[in-house]
Formats: sequence, C-alpha cells, structure tokens
Amino acid sequence: MRKVKSTTTFKTQLACFALLAIVTLIRCSPESKEVKYNNSFKPGKICLDTDSVHINAHGGGILYHHKTYYWFGEFKTAGQGGNTAQVGVSCYSSTDLYNWKNEGIALPVSSEPGSDIEKGSVIERPKVIYNEKTGKFVMWFHLELKGQGYEAARTALAVSNNVTGPYTFVKSLRPNAQEWPFDYPEELKNKAYDTELKWWTPDWYKAIDEGMFMQRDFEGGQMARDMQLFVDDDGKAYHIHSSEDNLTLHISELTDDYQDFTGKYIRIFPGGHNEAPALFKKDGIYYLMASGCTGWDPNEARLFDAKSIWGPWKPLGNPCVGEEAHLTFHSQSTYILPVQGKKDAFIYMGDRWTPENPIDGRYIWLPIQFDESGKPVINWYDEWNLSIFDN
Ligand code: DGJ
Repeated sequence: MRKVKSTTTFKTQLACFALLAIVTLIRCSPESKEVKYNNSFKPGKICLDTDSVHINAHGGGILYHHKTYYWFGEFKTAGQGGNTAQVGVSCYSSTDLYNWKNEGIALPVSSEPGSDIEKGSVIERPKVIYNEKTGKFVMWFHLELKGQGYEAARTALAVSNNVTGPYTFVKSLRPNAQEWPFDYPEELKNKAYDTELKWWTPDWYKAIDEGMFMQRDFEGGQMARDMQLFVDDDGKAYHIHSSEDNLTLHISELTDDYQDFTGKYIRIFPGGHNEAPALFKKDGIYYLMASGCTGWDPNEARLFDAKSIWGPWKPLGNPCVGEEAHLTFHSQSTYILPVQGKKDAFIYMGDRWTPENPIDGRYIWLPIQFDESGKPVINWYDEWNLSIFDN
C-alpha cells in the first residue's frame, strides 16, 4: 500500500514538473512573445497598453527623451461628459512605439472650484517639449474653462522637472495680446470694420482676410483652440493654433524657456477654417497638416509647405490617398512623429473620435511616405510596422 502511494506521489510530482517546464518554455518562446507583445500597428483597432487596457491618450503628442518615447494625451471617460476633463492628461512610455506602459496621470485636474483646470473644464491636445536650457518639461494644451463651452479659447501651460510628471499648472492665456502679426501691413492697423457683416459673404471674407477678428481680439489676446508645438533644429519652439473663431491659423514664437510667447507671430490662410495642426520638417522644408472644422466628424485633411516657418505657406492639397482619403481615413490629425534612428521616417497620428463614448476613441497611425516629386502622402494599411521605412 505504502509503496503504491509513494509511486503515485512521485508520478504526480513528475507530471507537475513537466507541466511547469512546458509552461516556462511556452512563456519564453518567441511565439508567446508575439501573443503577449505588440509588434505592429493596427490602425483603428483597440490599442492595448502593457496592462492590456485600451490606451487613453487622445489628441496626443509624443516627446522623445533619453531613448524613450512619451505619449501624452487627453484622458477620456465613458459616456456623456467624457470629453470634458474628469481626470487630466495621461502619459505612456515606450522604447519601440508598439508597446506602451501606462505612466499614470501627468497633469491631474484640480478639485478646487474656480481653478482654470477644474474638473469639468475642457483640456485638449496636450503637447510636451523639453527645454535644454532650463532642464524643464513644458506642456501646453488647449483649455476651455468649466461651464463656458468653447468660448474661452485659451492656451495653458504646465511644467515639470520629470518627464512623466506630475506637472504643475502655471497659467492660461490668450496669446499675443496687443501684438500685431510681424508681417501685418501698416495701413491695415486699426482699420474700422463693420462687425455686423454677414458671415461667408465676399465682404466678410475680405474683412477676415485683412484681420477683422484678429483686431477684435487685439487687446485681450488671440483665441487659441486646436494647438501644436514644434521645436526647430536651432532649439526655437513654436506654438501653432487655430485662432479667430477657428478661421485662421496662427504660428507664434515661444520664449527661450518655452514658457511664454515672444509676441512674434503670423496668421496663415485667413478664412481657411483649419483645425488640428500638426507640423514636421524634412530636408529643410516645413510641412503642416490640418483638418477642416466639422466638430468630432472627420473631414478632408490638408497639407501645406514652406521653406521658412514664417512662410510663405503653400497649399499642397490632401496628403491622403485611396479609399476614404476624403475623410482622412475617418480620423483627424493630432501629431506627426519623427521616428528615431530611421531616415525620412514620420508617422501620421490621428484620432478617430467617438463622442458618444469618448474613452473608446481609436488611434489612426499611418506611415508618411513621399511620392516621386517628394510630396508627403498617406496610404491606408490595415496593419504595418516600422520596416516599411526601410524600403
Ligand atoms: C475638433 C477638435 O479638433 C477637437 O480637438 C475638439 O475640439 C472638437 N472639435 C470639439 O468639437
């Protein structure tokens, strides 16, 4: 009897050991890695972080720092109200762009009533840049004050000593108060306009082109909604935003510490109704991608180029090609990411908004390729990886 029992125990132990060995082998095999880890982009599909949760960083942008990519974005919540800031700005990190670790909330909303970033305000399109001179991480974002819809049209600043935060809210403002665009014709300064002009009429277009709304906001500062940051090769940083009731884009220079506006700015495409600006530079040429203004619904993207950030900017049409190109593949630009260590490799980052359940919003990442004339083009891929840039 005793002998039978000990043989059975031995056999059970052997079986357990074998099972453990098989499990260990499976976990270490390359196949299992493919199951556990991402190694491609699947635009429009659920995008899991390393905790297997859909990434929550909408309207985002990426900072590359010390060999790591940091993705900052709007932390959305489920259902009605999920587009207002209930939590704050989220941050994820990655070394390969496929696998993202949740680094938590970089900038939390405030529970203090009356704070600019009070819970329930609107915090959109956060972007972070690193300032070499001060050693600080500088975040700017589009801010709408709680309970005011989209009327406030402000840009806001938060700063941190650590890339993942916490970021400290510094201020919000309408930029370039009492500053004329630096290329603004002398003869138009303080011209009187008929503010009752009917929208979209030829006279109204002419007045918008000349800067009627910019003059309207001259004293208190220019409206700033959808925004972008861009750091040039010489370390100068620029704040690009939709202004003048979303009719005209402004490009403004930031101070050396990136924490203020110098007052130097230009207006581009007055009356062009451009939102969602995303800027990149290749071979000395600046490319600016934008969308039209149709709320959360997608529309046709536009691309512009210029030899200087101060223009002149030239329209190049829609960079998207193929089926659904007229809707930017059901997305809206948020950032264009230069891929480190690869030549001429840029990723279009767009949002596919789901306003009825904002937390479900999807990410459309696609490679930017260049046609024979050198023009950037964006094709749809169901699935792709970074090796596309090696061809
Ligand atoms: C489009 C903008 O690009 C988004 O960031 C957001 O502001 C929505 N409009 C709101 O309708």
